[in-house]
Amino acid sequence: MKSKASIAAIITTVVGLALGITAVQAEDPLKAPTEPITIDGKKPVQFDHAVHQELGLDCAECHHDGEHTPRTAENIAALSDSEVLQCATCHNEEFANPELRDRKTVFHANCRECHQEGVNGKKGPTKCSDCHVKKARKAIEGC
Ligand code: HEC
Ligand code: HEC
Ligand code: HEC
Ligand code: HEC
Repeated sequence: MKSKASIAAIITTVVGLALGITAVQAEDPLKAPTEPITIDGKKPVQFDHAVHQELGLDCAECHHDGEHTPRTAENIAALSDSEVLQCATCHNEEFANPELRDRKTVFHANCRECHQEGVNGKKGPTKCSDCHVKKARKAIEGC
């Protein structure tokens, strides 16, 4: 049988570890990736946050939550997992609105429509091959 003192010591250690883990997470909040990422469906696309941030776009231009409420940088920083930012976490065959289930429709509505309209007179690329690369850039770099 363990003494009360040693149980207290164990509890202190466990609580200490839990606080330690929380502190590490708080120091490392989610922020926009500085390097280009690959949006990796059947037709992969390179997407560079930096190019879009230089245009002065808010995170909310692309990121929203399950109520379609815009996400701010602060809101994203407070998330513990980037999975809830992945568009297909919600926009998949189970999504309530059947018109917003399909990757092509959802991404094209976000990416292509803005590229056609432009931001402060700057238009984005609209040809298929401007966005769709044959292979993910990571694979090309590995050659
Ligand atoms: C502004 C960027 C952009 C342009 C231009 C664009 N797409 Fe896309 N498209 C995307 C993104 C981002 C995705 C999501 C990536 C994926 O699913 O592979 C996507 C997805 C798709 C998909 C669905 C792939 C899947 O996983 O189910 C198809 C098919 C597609 N695009 C075809 C086209 C064709 C054809 C053109 C030209 C007429 C085109 N796209 C132009 C950005 C673009
Ligand atoms: C022009 C559109 C756009 C803007 C603006 C934007 N993002 Fe993103 N972000 C995306 C897309 C698209 C993805 C990939 C989603 C997917 O894979 O389904 C992404 C992914 C992410 C990820 C996950 C990265 C990973 O590798 O898993 C983080 C974190 C993120 N964004 C943070 C931010 C923050 C913070 C801002 C604002 C400062 C921001 N984004 C602005 C489109 C955008
Ligand atoms: C947490 C769930 C969730 C995630 C993640 C999510 N969405 Fe949505 N999205 C919604 C909801 C809810 C709506 C509103 C549906 C409606 O009006 O029927 C919506 C609507 C949309 C629409 C149509 C309305 C509009 O804003 O033009 C587009 C396009 C869209 N999302 C693109 C994206 C893209 C691109 C991403 C990833 C960067 C993304 N969504 C991530 C839940 C999500
Ligand atoms: C709200 C407007 C807006 C949205 C949303 C947006 N873009 Fe763009 N994008 C632009 C503009 C404007 C440029 C041209 C920037 C310049 O010329 O400096 C651009 C440039 C690009 C480029 C060429 C520069 C580079 O990175 O090589 C790619 C590729 C691109 N966007 C992909 C995407 C994809 C994929 C999405 C959707 C996930 C997306 N964009 C969403 C406005 C937008």
